[in-house]
Amino acid sequence: MTKAAEHEDKGIQHITDKGLDRDCTTLSRHVLQQFQGFSAQAQDLSALMNRIGLAGKLVARRLSRAGLMEGVLGFTGEVNVQGESVKKMDVYANDVFISVFKQSGLVCRLASEEMDEPYYIPENCPIGRYTLLYDPIDGSSNTDTNLSLGSIFAIRQQVGEDSDGQAKDLLAPGNNQIGAGYILYGPSTMLVYTMGKGVHSFTLDPSLGEFILTEENIKIPDRGSVYSVNEGNFWQWEESIREYIRYVHRTEGYSARYSGAMVSDIHRILVQGGVFLYPGTVQKPEGKLRLLYESAPLAYIIEQAGGRATTGEMRILDVVAEKLHQRTPLIIGSKENVAKVESFIQNGH
Ligand code: AHG
Ligand code: MN
Ligand code: MN
Repeated sequence: MTKAAEHEDKGIQHITDKGLDRDCTTLSRHVLQQFQGFSAQAQDLSALMNRIGLAGKLVARRLSRAGLMEGVLGFTGEVNVQGESVKKMDVYANDVFISVFKQSGLVCRLASEEMDEPYYIPENCPIGRYTLLYDPIDGSSNTDTNLSLGSIFAIRQQVGEDSDGQAKDLLAPGNNQIGAGYILYGPSTMLVYTMGKGVHSFTLDPSLGEFILTEENIKIPDRGSVYSVNEGNFWQWEESIREYIRYVHRTEGYSARYSGAMVSDIHRILVQGGVFLYPGTVQKPEGKLRLLYESAPLAYIIEQAGGRATTGEMRILDVVAEKLHQRTPLIIGSKENVAKVESFIQNGH
């Protein structure tokens, strides 16, 4: 008699293997499965993603109690390298990512929106050849009103020696990203990542303290009805973008959705289709979003899901940066919607 039959005989109820398997598909296990083996690289990337998950849990924990604690909300009074006022949560989340990688042996450098220069963890550098690029809190303006926020990350391999500490290798196109993703702090906390083998989402189960697989190989619809853009900038845009928006207004079936945190907006578009735009303005042709730790990681996710991401003139993942905090216009989402915006930019209709 088999064990299962023996149990059945004794009336022991079996939990369905499917449910249990699902609960056990944690983030670190999933990364290992992606590489189908236990190579050193697979183990490193699994450990690395696990640490990113820990950073997400720490940020989510603080956000969930923000209204109950002193010193969490509001501004620090500082201005960052972008010229933007820094919030206390920006600083906390920035430090969390540094802290989780200390003594990890994994990451030698971290570069973020909130730091002028890359941060080195010298004790990791002899063995840890990875760099983490990140936006610790995306959508900072939502912080004080308990609305959705995100974190964005990209993993790159250090190329060469970086002996002058200038991190020039990080300026290479986004095609060089090994992995990328985001954490969405919404009604539940989700983590979405790619390592170049599809896009996968995880939901934080607070009772387990683990990110558990929600959906594998997510595909973005080829077309969607959502357009997501800050129309307050309408008169600052080039005429071609204004013409596209006029086309949207004339066409039945479009819905405007704009939350102030592009992680939220792009997550909606990933799941339901549509297009997110942050074009340049006449005064600031590069727009607002930063290439290396906002646009490029999200472009990697959306392309892996079957969508597209462009500056309007070229594919985001082909852009070579000139500096760490470079900005870029961004048009990203379902391929048919992105093509429509491009046709306005390139042909005026
Ligand atoms: P961050 O909070 O990291 O500076 O990024 C905010 C970004 C993006 O998430 C959002 O879509 C956009 O800036 C909002 O900017 P506007 O207020 O100019 O629309
Ligand atoms: Mn941001
Ligand atoms: Mn930010």
